[in-house]
Amino acid sequence: MTQLPGLLDTEAIRKDFPILDRVVHDDRKLVYLDNAATSQKPRQVLDALNEYYERYNANVHRGVHVLAEEATALYEGARDKVAEFINAPSRDEVIFTKNASESLNLVANMLGWADEPYRVDAETEIVITEMEHHSNIVPWQLLSQRTGAKLKWFGLTDDGRLDLSNIDEIITEKTKIVSFVLVSNILGTINPVEAIVRRAQEVGALVCIDASQAAPHMPMDVQALQADFVAFTGHKMCGPTGIGVLWGRQELLEDLPPFLGGGEMIETVSMHSSTYAPAPHKFEAGTPPIAQAVGLGAAIDYLSAIGMDKILAHEHAVTEYAVKRLGEVPGLRIIGPATAEERGAAISFTLGDIHPHDVGQVLDEQGIAVRVGHHCARPVCLRYGIPATTRASFYLYSTPAEIDALVEGLEHVRNFFG
Ligand code: ALA
Repeated sequence: MTQLPGLLDTEAIRKDFPILDRVVHDDRKLVYLDNAATSQKPRQVLDALNEYYERYNANVHRGVHVLAEEATALYEGARDKVAEFINAPSRDEVIFTKNASESLNLVANMLGWADEPYRVDAETEIVITEMEHHSNIVPWQLLSQRTGAKLKWFGLTDDGRLDLSNIDEIITEKTKIVSFVLVSNILGTINPVEAIVRRAQEVGALVCIDASQAAPHMPMDVQALQADFVAFTGHKMCGPTGIGVLWGRQELLEDLPPFLGGGEMIETVSMHSSTYAPAPHKFEAGTPPIAQAVGLGAAIDYLSAIGMDKILAHEHAVTEYAVKRLGEVPGLRIIGPATAEERGAAISFTLGDIHPHDVGQVLDEQGIAVRVGHHCARPVCLRYGIPATTRASFYLYSTPAEIDALVEGLEHVRNFFG
Protein backbone atom coordinates (compact mmCIF):
# COMPACT_ATOMS: atom_id res chain seq x y z
CA MET A 1 0.00 0.00 0.00
CA THR A 2 1.34 3.48 -0.85
CA GLN A 3 2.35 5.34 2.30
CA LEU A 4 2.70 9.12 2.20
CA PRO A 5 3.75 11.48 4.98
CA GLY A 6 0.79 13.21 6.63
CA LEU A 7 -1.82 10.55 5.87
CA LEU A 8 -4.53 9.89 8.43
CA ASP A 9 -5.35 6.37 9.61
CA THR A 10 -7.91 5.89 6.85
CA GLU A 11 -8.47 2.26 7.76
CA ALA A 12 -9.90 3.37 11.10
CA ILE A 13 -11.71 6.42 9.68
CA ARG A 14 -13.40 4.45 6.89
CA LYS A 15 -15.02 2.17 9.48
CA ASP A 16 -17.06 5.20 10.57
CA PHE A 17 -18.57 5.57 7.07
CA PRO A 18 -20.87 2.61 6.33
CA ILE A 19 -21.49 3.70 2.74
CA LEU A 20 -17.80 3.32 1.85
CA ASP A 21 -18.26 -0.47 2.15
CA ARG A 22 -20.78 -0.48 -0.67
CA VAL A 23 -20.38 -2.56 -3.75
CA VAL A 24 -21.92 -1.18 -6.96
CA HIS A 25 -22.65 -2.70 -10.38
CA ASP A 26 -22.77 -6.21 -8.80
CA ASP A 27 -19.14 -6.60 -7.82
CA ARG A 28 -17.34 -3.27 -7.94
CA LYS A 29 -16.05 -1.82 -4.71
CA LEU A 30 -17.17 1.80 -4.46
CA VAL A 31 -14.40 4.35 -4.98
CA TYR A 32 -16.05 7.60 -3.96
CA LEU A 33 -14.25 10.58 -5.50
CA ASP A 34 -17.13 13.05 -5.63
CA ASN A 35 -16.59 14.75 -2.30
CA ALA A 36 -16.74 18.28 -3.66
CA ALA A 37 -20.35 17.57 -4.64
CA THR A 38 -21.18 16.08 -1.25
CA SER A 39 -19.26 14.22 1.43
CA GLN A 40 -20.28 10.94 2.97
CA LYS A 41 -21.59 10.86 6.56
CA PRO A 42 -20.02 9.07 9.50
CA ARG A 43 -22.09 6.86 11.78
CA GLN A 44 -21.73 9.49 14.52
CA VAL A 45 -23.75 11.94 12.41
CA LEU A 46 -26.31 9.32 11.36
CA ASP A 47 -26.75 8.37 15.03
CA ALA A 48 -27.17 12.00 16.10
CA LEU A 49 -29.93 12.47 13.49
CA ASN A 50 -31.71 9.31 14.58
CA GLU A 51 -31.38 10.13 18.24
CA TYR A 52 -32.75 13.61 17.64
CA TYR A 53 -35.89 12.26 15.99
CA GLU A 54 -36.27 9.34 18.41
CA ARG A 55 -35.88 11.36 21.61
CA TYR A 56 -36.07 15.13 21.19
CA ASN A 57 -38.11 16.09 18.16
CA ALA A 58 -40.09 19.30 18.79
CA ASN A 59 -40.26 22.80 17.37
CA VAL A 60 -37.69 25.21 18.79
CA HIS A 61 -38.05 28.52 20.66
CA ARG A 62 -41.79 28.03 20.97
CA GLY A 63 -42.87 25.47 23.52
CA VAL A 64 -42.72 25.36 27.31
CA HIS A 65 -42.65 21.57 27.37
CA VAL A 66 -39.60 19.39 27.95
CA LEU A 67 -39.08 18.29 24.36
CA ALA A 68 -39.28 21.86 23.07
CA GLU A 69 -36.69 22.95 25.59
CA GLU A 70 -34.40 20.05 24.78
CA ALA A 71 -34.75 20.55 21.02
CA THR A 72 -34.01 24.25 21.47
CA ALA A 73 -30.92 23.46 23.55
CA LEU A 74 -29.69 21.07 20.84
CA TYR A 75 -30.36 23.54 18.02
CA GLU A 76 -28.71 26.43 19.84
CA GLY A 77 -25.92 24.09 20.96
CA ALA A 78 -25.19 23.41 17.29
CA ARG A 79 -24.85 27.17 16.81
CA ASP A 80 -22.26 27.23 19.59
CA LYS A 81 -20.33 24.43 17.88
CA VAL A 82 -20.31 26.25 14.55
CA ALA A 83 -19.19 29.49 16.23
CA GLU A 84 -16.27 27.72 17.87
CA PHE A 85 -15.39 25.80 14.69
CA ILE A 86 -14.97 29.02 12.69
CA ASN A 87 -13.63 31.11 15.60
CA ALA A 88 -16.55 33.55 15.46
CA PRO A 89 -16.35 36.29 18.10
CA SER A 90 -20.02 35.72 18.95
CA ARG A 91 -22.54 32.88 18.53
CA ASP A 92 -25.07 35.51 17.46
CA GLU A 93 -23.08 35.97 14.26
CA VAL A 94 -23.97 32.45 13.07
CA ILE A 95 -27.11 32.27 10.92
CA PHE A 96 -28.48 28.89 9.87
CA THR A 97 -29.74 28.67 6.29
CA LYS A 98 -30.54 25.72 4.07
CA ASN A 99 -27.28 25.76 2.09
CA ALA A 100 -24.44 28.02 0.95
CA SER A 101 -26.52 29.25 -2.00
CA GLU A 102 -29.16 30.54 0.40
CA SER A 103 -26.44 32.15 2.53
CA LEU A 104 -25.06 34.03 -0.50
CA ASN A 105 -28.54 35.01 -1.67
CA LEU A 106 -29.21 36.30 1.83
CA VAL A 107 -26.18 38.63 1.68
CA ALA A 108 -27.18 39.92 -1.76
CA ASN A 109 -30.73 40.60 -0.58
CA MET A 110 -29.67 42.24 2.70
CA LEU A 111 -27.58 44.68 0.68
CA GLY A 112 -30.29 45.14 -1.93
CA TRP A 113 -32.82 46.30 0.68
CA ALA A 114 -30.32 48.15 2.89
CA ASP A 115 -30.16 51.89 3.58
CA GLU A 116 -26.95 53.88 3.40
CA PRO A 117 -24.10 53.22 3.93
CA TYR A 118 -24.64 49.64 2.67
CA ARG A 119 -27.12 50.35 -0.08
CA VAL A 120 -26.28 48.89 -3.50
CA ASP A 121 -27.65 51.13 -6.27
CA ALA A 122 -26.94 52.35 -9.80
CA GLU A 123 -24.01 54.44 -8.59
CA THR A 124 -22.22 51.45 -7.07
CA GLU A 125 -20.37 48.33 -8.17
CA ILE A 126 -20.32 44.67 -7.20
CA VAL A 127 -17.16 42.58 -7.71
CA ILE A 128 -17.00 38.79 -8.14
CA THR A 129 -14.63 36.48 -10.05
CA GLU A 130 -14.80 34.31 -13.15
CA MET A 131 -14.21 31.16 -11.07
CA GLU A 132 -17.34 31.48 -8.93
CA HIS A 133 -19.90 28.74 -8.52
CA HIS A 134 -23.22 29.85 -10.05
CA SER A 135 -24.44 30.42 -6.48
CA ASN A 136 -21.99 33.32 -6.19
CA ILE A 137 -22.77 34.71 -9.65
CA VAL A 138 -26.53 34.60 -10.13
CA PRO A 139 -27.53 36.33 -6.84
CA TRP A 140 -25.25 39.25 -7.78
CA GLN A 141 -26.61 39.34 -11.34
CA LEU A 142 -30.12 39.52 -9.88
CA LEU A 143 -29.06 42.29 -7.51
CA SER A 144 -27.37 44.17 -10.34
CA GLN A 145 -30.47 43.88 -12.54
CA ARG A 146 -32.70 45.05 -9.71
CA THR A 147 -30.59 48.02 -8.59
CA GLY A 148 -28.65 49.05 -11.68
CA ALA A 149 -25.34 48.40 -9.88
CA LYS A 150 -22.49 47.44 -12.20
CA LEU A 151 -21.24 43.85 -11.94
CA LYS A 152 -17.47 43.45 -12.42
CA TRP A 153 -15.19 40.45 -12.05
CA PHE A 154 -11.62 39.26 -11.88
CA GLY A 155 -10.60 37.10 -14.84
CA LEU A 156 -8.46 33.97 -14.73
CA THR A 157 -4.88 33.23 -15.69
CA ASP A 158 -4.09 30.34 -18.02
CA ASP A 159 -3.02 28.20 -15.04
CA GLY A 160 -6.32 28.58 -13.23
CA ARG A 161 -5.60 31.37 -10.77
CA LEU A 162 -7.23 34.75 -10.27
CA ASP A 163 -5.73 37.49 -12.41
CA LEU A 164 -5.29 40.27 -9.86
CA SER A 165 -3.00 42.37 -12.08
CA ASN A 166 -5.73 45.03 -12.43
CA ILE A 167 -7.03 44.82 -8.86
CA ASP A 168 -7.09 48.62 -8.46
CA GLU A 169 -9.29 49.02 -11.53
CA ILE A 170 -11.65 46.20 -10.57
CA ILE A 171 -12.08 47.19 -6.91
CA THR A 172 -12.65 50.97 -6.79
CA GLU A 173 -14.19 53.64 -4.56
CA LYS A 174 -17.54 52.65 -6.10
CA THR A 175 -17.29 49.01 -4.98
CA LYS A 176 -19.85 48.09 -2.33
CA ILE A 177 -19.12 44.39 -2.04
CA VAL A 178 -16.46 41.94 -3.20
CA SER A 179 -17.70 38.35 -3.11
CA PHE A 180 -15.34 35.51 -4.00
CA VAL A 181 -14.66 31.87 -3.46
CA LEU A 182 -11.90 30.75 -1.08
CA VAL A 183 -11.33 27.38 -2.80
CA SER A 184 -12.71 26.84 -6.31
CA ASN A 185 -15.01 23.83 -6.68
CA ILE A 186 -13.93 23.28 -10.28
CA LEU A 187 -10.29 24.40 -10.44
CA GLY A 188 -9.28 23.56 -6.88
CA THR A 189 -7.45 26.90 -6.65
CA ILE A 190 -6.96 28.39 -3.19
CA ASN A 191 -7.37 32.14 -3.59
CA PRO A 192 -5.19 34.88 -2.04
CA VAL A 193 -7.69 36.26 0.44
CA GLU A 194 -5.33 38.74 2.04
CA ALA A 195 -4.57 40.72 -1.13
CA ILE A 196 -8.25 41.00 -2.05
CA VAL A 197 -9.40 41.91 1.46
CA ARG A 198 -6.65 44.54 1.77
CA ARG A 199 -7.80 46.29 -1.41
CA ALA A 200 -11.49 46.02 -0.45
CA GLN A 201 -10.76 47.55 2.93
CA GLU A 202 -8.81 50.40 1.30
CA VAL A 203 -11.95 51.48 -0.55
CA GLY A 204 -14.40 50.63 2.25
CA ALA A 205 -16.07 47.72 0.40
CA LEU A 206 -17.60 44.77 2.22
CA VAL A 207 -16.13 41.30 1.65
CA CYS A 208 -18.11 38.07 1.36
CA ILE A 209 -16.27 34.75 1.12
CA ASP A 210 -17.78 31.54 -0.25
CA ALA A 211 -16.05 28.92 1.91
CA SER A 212 -18.13 25.94 0.73
CA GLN A 213 -15.04 24.03 -0.48
CA ALA A 214 -12.82 25.34 2.34
CA ALA A 215 -14.70 24.82 5.62
CA PRO A 216 -14.82 21.01 5.17
CA HIS A 217 -11.09 20.78 4.47
CA MET A 218 -9.05 23.26 6.51
CA PRO A 219 -9.10 25.15 9.80
CA MET A 220 -11.46 28.12 9.47
CA ASP A 221 -10.93 31.36 11.31
CA VAL A 222 -13.35 34.07 10.24
CA GLN A 223 -11.46 36.65 12.29
CA ALA A 224 -8.18 35.88 10.51
CA LEU A 225 -9.94 36.04 7.12
CA GLN A 226 -11.06 39.59 8.01
CA ALA A 227 -14.15 39.20 5.84
CA ASP A 228 -17.57 40.61 6.62
CA PHE A 229 -19.52 37.51 5.61
CA VAL A 230 -18.51 33.86 5.20
CA ALA A 231 -20.86 31.26 3.68
CA PHE A 232 -20.61 27.47 3.71
CA THR A 233 -22.74 24.35 3.73
CA GLY A 234 -23.08 21.35 6.03
CA HIS A 235 -23.41 18.49 3.57
CA LYS A 236 -19.88 18.84 2.19
CA MET A 237 -18.42 18.51 5.69
CA CYS A 238 -19.94 15.22 6.87
CA GLY A 239 -23.22 16.88 7.88
CA PRO A 240 -26.68 16.32 6.43
CA THR A 241 -28.15 18.19 3.47
CA GLY A 242 -30.50 21.09 4.20
CA ILE A 243 -28.23 23.07 6.51
CA GLY A 244 -25.99 25.97 5.56
CA VAL A 245 -24.29 28.73 7.49
CA LEU A 246 -23.85 32.42 7.00
CA TRP A 247 -21.45 34.07 9.38
CA GLY A 248 -21.64 37.86 9.42
CA ARG A 249 -20.05 40.59 11.52
CA GLN A 250 -22.34 41.48 14.39
CA GLU A 251 -22.69 45.22 13.71
CA LEU A 252 -23.62 44.48 10.09
CA LEU A 253 -26.21 41.95 11.12
CA GLU A 254 -27.65 44.49 13.53
CA ASP A 255 -27.89 47.17 10.82
CA LEU A 256 -28.93 45.15 7.78
CA PRO A 257 -32.59 44.36 7.03
CA PRO A 258 -34.04 40.84 6.99
CA PHE A 259 -34.81 39.11 3.71
CA LEU A 260 -37.41 36.50 4.65
CA GLY A 261 -40.31 37.42 6.92
CA GLY A 262 -42.26 35.07 9.16
CA GLY A 263 -42.48 33.48 12.57
CA GLU A 264 -39.62 33.74 15.04
CA MET A 265 -37.81 36.55 13.23
CA ILE A 266 -39.98 39.22 14.83
CA GLU A 267 -40.13 41.13 18.09
CA THR A 268 -43.67 42.46 17.68
CA VAL A 269 -46.22 42.38 14.87
CA SER A 270 -49.31 44.52 14.37
CA MET A 271 -51.48 44.74 11.29
CA HIS A 272 -49.56 47.87 10.29
CA SER A 273 -45.93 47.02 10.91
CA SER A 274 -43.43 44.75 12.67
CA THR A 275 -40.20 45.05 14.56
CA TYR A 276 -37.54 42.39 14.33
CA ALA A 277 -35.76 40.08 16.72
CA PRO A 278 -32.01 40.57 17.12
CA ALA A 279 -29.64 38.56 14.88
CA PRO A 280 -29.35 35.71 14.21
CA HIS A 281 -33.11 35.15 14.65
CA LYS A 282 -33.92 38.16 12.45
CA PHE A 283 -32.60 36.11 9.53
CA GLU A 284 -34.15 32.73 10.41
CA ALA A 285 -37.83 33.05 9.56
CA GLY A 286 -40.04 30.03 10.10
CA THR A 287 -39.22 26.61 11.52
CA PRO A 288 -35.50 26.19 10.97
CA PRO A 289 -33.63 23.03 9.87
CA ILE A 290 -33.45 21.70 13.44
CA ALA A 291 -32.38 18.07 12.94
CA GLN A 292 -29.98 19.20 10.23
CA ALA A 293 -28.33 21.69 12.57
CA VAL A 294 -27.96 18.95 15.19
CA GLY A 295 -26.41 16.72 12.51
CA LEU A 296 -24.02 19.50 11.52
CA GLY A 297 -23.05 19.87 15.18
CA ALA A 298 -22.24 16.15 15.30
CA ALA A 299 -20.20 16.49 12.09
CA ILE A 300 -18.22 19.34 13.63
CA ASP A 301 -17.55 17.23 16.73
CA TYR A 302 -16.36 14.41 14.46
CA LEU A 303 -14.06 16.58 12.31
CA SER A 304 -12.72 18.49 15.32
CA ALA A 305 -11.84 15.28 17.17
CA ILE A 306 -9.65 14.29 14.20
CA GLY A 307 -8.32 17.84 13.80
CA MET A 308 -8.79 20.12 10.81
CA ASP A 309 -5.03 20.67 10.48
CA LYS A 310 -4.57 16.89 10.19
CA ILE A 311 -7.39 16.63 7.64
CA LEU A 312 -5.75 19.39 5.59
CA ALA A 313 -2.37 17.62 5.71
CA HIS A 314 -3.98 14.32 4.68
CA GLU A 315 -5.80 15.83 1.75
CA HIS A 316 -2.71 17.71 0.66
CA ALA A 317 -0.73 14.45 0.57
CA VAL A 318 -3.49 12.68 -1.38
CA THR A 319 -3.83 15.62 -3.79
CA GLU A 320 -0.08 15.78 -4.38
CA TYR A 321 -0.08 12.07 -5.15
CA ALA A 322 -3.09 12.47 -7.45
CA VAL A 323 -1.49 15.35 -9.37
CA LYS A 324 1.61 13.20 -9.89
CA ARG A 325 -0.27 10.05 -10.93
CA LEU A 326 -2.72 11.87 -13.20
CA GLY A 327 0.27 13.53 -14.87
CA GLU A 328 1.32 10.04 -16.01
CA VAL A 329 -1.92 9.47 -17.96
CA PRO A 330 -1.33 10.21 -21.66
CA GLY A 331 -3.57 12.97 -23.00
CA LEU A 332 -4.76 14.09 -19.57
CA ARG A 333 -4.83 17.86 -19.01
CA ILE A 334 -5.47 19.28 -15.57
CA ILE A 335 -7.74 22.33 -15.72
CA GLY A 336 -6.49 24.46 -12.85
CA PRO A 337 -3.18 24.66 -10.98
CA ALA A 338 -0.97 21.84 -12.21
CA THR A 339 0.83 21.42 -8.88
CA ALA A 340 -0.49 20.67 -5.41
CA GLU A 341 0.62 24.08 -4.09
CA GLU A 342 -2.16 26.52 -3.20
CA ARG A 343 -4.79 24.07 -4.35
CA GLY A 344 -7.53 22.16 -2.64
CA ALA A 345 -8.59 18.56 -2.97
CA ALA A 346 -10.62 18.79 -6.20
CA ILE A 347 -8.92 18.12 -9.53
CA SER A 348 -10.65 18.76 -12.85
CA PHE A 349 -9.26 17.38 -16.05
CA THR A 350 -9.92 16.56 -19.68
CA LEU A 351 -8.75 13.35 -21.35
CA GLY A 352 -7.82 13.89 -24.98
CA ASP A 353 -11.00 14.55 -26.89
CA ILE A 354 -13.06 11.98 -24.99
CA HIS A 355 -16.17 13.70 -23.70
CA PRO A 356 -16.19 13.95 -19.88
CA HIS A 357 -19.63 12.31 -19.75
CA ASP A 358 -18.13 9.25 -21.45
CA VAL A 359 -15.17 9.32 -19.07
CA GLY A 360 -17.55 9.47 -16.10
CA GLN A 361 -19.70 6.64 -17.40
CA VAL A 362 -16.83 4.23 -18.00
CA LEU A 363 -15.38 5.11 -14.59
CA ASP A 364 -18.78 4.51 -13.00
CA GLU A 365 -18.95 1.05 -14.57
CA GLN A 366 -15.78 0.33 -12.59
CA GLY A 367 -17.30 1.62 -9.36
CA ILE A 368 -15.49 4.96 -9.46
CA ALA A 369 -17.72 7.94 -8.67
CA VAL A 370 -16.57 11.28 -10.08
CA ARG A 371 -18.51 14.34 -11.23
CA VAL A 372 -18.61 15.42 -14.85
CA GLY A 373 -20.00 18.60 -16.41
CA HIS A 374 -19.45 22.29 -15.81
CA HIS A 375 -19.76 21.86 -12.03
CA CYS A 376 -22.09 24.87 -11.73
CA ALA A 377 -19.14 27.03 -12.82
CA ARG A 378 -19.84 27.33 -16.52
CA PRO A 379 -17.86 30.57 -17.04
CA VAL A 380 -14.70 28.60 -16.15
CA CYS A 381 -15.38 26.10 -18.96
CA LEU A 382 -16.07 28.97 -21.36
CA ARG A 383 -12.80 30.64 -20.30
CA TYR A 384 -10.78 27.51 -21.10
CA GLY A 385 -12.73 26.63 -24.25
CA ILE A 386 -13.98 23.26 -23.03
CA PRO A 387 -17.54 21.96 -22.76
CA ALA A 388 -17.01 20.24 -19.43
CA THR A 389 -14.47 18.48 -17.21
CA THR A 390 -14.18 15.29 -15.22
CA ARG A 391 -13.57 16.09 -11.56
CA ALA A 392 -12.11 13.85 -8.87
CA SER A 393 -12.37 15.26 -5.36
CA PHE A 394 -11.03 13.86 -2.11
CA TYR A 395 -11.74 13.92 1.60
CA LEU A 396 -10.39 12.66 4.89
CA TYR A 397 -11.18 9.03 4.01
CA SER A 398 -9.65 9.12 0.51
CA THR A 399 -6.62 6.89 0.00
CA PRO A 400 -3.69 6.64 -2.43
CA ALA A 401 -5.13 3.24 -3.45
CA GLU A 402 -8.25 5.05 -4.65
CA ILE A 403 -6.09 7.35 -6.74
CA ASP A 404 -4.42 4.27 -8.22
CA ALA A 405 -7.88 2.87 -8.99
CA LEU A 406 -8.79 6.13 -10.73
CA VAL A 407 -5.64 6.07 -12.85
CA GLU A 408 -6.27 2.43 -13.75
CA GLY A 409 -9.88 3.33 -14.55
CA LEU A 410 -8.71 6.08 -16.88
CA GLU A 411 -6.54 3.53 -18.68
CA HIS A 412 -9.73 1.52 -19.32
CA VAL A 413 -11.40 4.67 -20.61
CA ARG A 414 -8.51 5.27 -23.02
CA ASN A 415 -8.56 1.68 -24.23
CA PHE A 416 -12.34 1.71 -24.57
CA PHE A 417 -12.27 4.80 -26.76
CA GLY A 418 -9.25 3.66 -28.69
N1 ALA B 1 -21.24 22.65 -5.60
C1 ALA B 1 -21.17 21.24 -5.71
C2 ALA B 1 -20.11 20.78 -6.71
O1 ALA B 1 -19.22 21.52 -6.98
C3 ALA B 1 -22.47 20.63 -5.94
O2 ALA B 1 -20.19 19.68 -7.19
